[in-house]
Amino acid sequence: MTDTLTLLPDLETLHHWRQDVDARGLRLGLVPTMGNLHAGHLSLVAAARAACDVVLATLFVNPLQFGPNEDLARYPRSFDADCAALQAAGCNALFVPEAAALYPRGLQAQTRISVPALSALHCGQSRPGHFDGVCTVVAKLFNLTRPHDAYFGLKDYQQFRILTTMVEDLNLPIRLHGQPIVREADGLAMSSRNGYLSSEERALAPQLYASLQALANRIQAGENNFRQLETETAAALQTQGLRPDYLHLCRQDDLQPAQSSDEPLIILAAAYLGSTRLIDNLVV
Ligand code: PAJ
Repeated sequence: MTDTLTLLPDLETLHHWRQDVDARGLRLGLVPTMGNLHAGHLSLVAAARAACDVVLATLFVNPLQFGPNEDLARYPRSFDADCAALQAAGCNALFVPEAAALYPRGLQAQTRISVPALSALHCGQSRPGHFDGVCTVVAKLFNLTRPHDAYFGLKDYQQFRILTTMVEDLNLPIRLHGQPIVREADGLAMSSRNGYLSSEERALAPQLYASLQALANRIQAGENNFRQLETETAAALQTQGLRPDYLHLCRQDDLQPAQSSDEPLIILAAAYLGSTRLIDNLVV
C-alpha cells in the first residue's frame, strides 16, 4: 500500500484494490462517510489505523437515505479538501462511487434492508425510510469492500445501534466499532450540517448539548419523573430559540422510553435551528 491516497472511482478499481489487500493478507478497516469531512470523521480513520493494516474510506452522498424534502441537493461537497484530509490522516484509499454504479436499477427498484423496531423510533419518526436507506447502502458497502472492521460515530447513536443489529441479524462477519462524539470547543457536536448555520444560529447551537447536560445533571441529582423532565428540557430549548424535534430519555439497550428504574440510560435529541436539523445524545 502506498502512502498517497488511492482513489477508487468505480466498482472495478475497488475490486482490484480489494483483491490486492487479500493477496497481502492485510486486515482492512472501513470508514463510510458522506464527505465534507471534519475531525469527527477523521477520528474514525485514526481508530481504524490503530487497529487495522489498511484503511479504506468511502464517500457517497446516499440518495436513498434522504427524504423528498431533505437536503440531498445542497448537501455540502468538498472533494479536494476531503482527499487532502484523508491523506493527512493516513487513510490508504477512498472509494467514491457514482449513484448509478450503486443503484443501477434506480432508487425505487432497489432491494432494501430494514431493521424494523429500532428504525421506527426517534429520528425514524420524522425521517421515514431514512434508516432503511442507511442500512441498504452500508450493507452494499460491506459486501463490496468486505472489511474486517468498520468504524462509525456514536454521534449518530441510533444509526450505530441499527447497523449493529443489521450485522447481527444478517450474520455479517464484520466487527463494528462505535467511536466517541467529537465536539467543537463550545460543546456543539461536529457535523457536516453545521455549515448551514448562520452566525446567529451557530451561537445558539451549543444549547442543544448544554440542555442534555442539564437534564443529565437533574437525573444524577435524583429527579425521576422522566416524562416531565423531557417536556421541561424541550420547553427550555424552545425558549432558547431552537425547535426541538424530539428529546427522549431512553434505555440504552432497546432505545425505548426509560422508566426511573431503568439503566443504563441515554438522552437522544434532535432540534431545528432555522431549517437545519441537529442531533446529539448523551449517556447518563
Ligand atoms: P456522515 O454523516 O458523513 O458520517 C460518517 C460517520 O462519521 C458516521 O459514522 C458518523 O456517526 C460519524 N460522525 C459524524 N460526526 C461525528 C462526530 N462529531 N464525532 C464522531 N463521529 C462522527 O453517517 C453517515 O455519514 C451516513 O449515514 C453513512 C453511514 C455514511 C451511510 O450513508
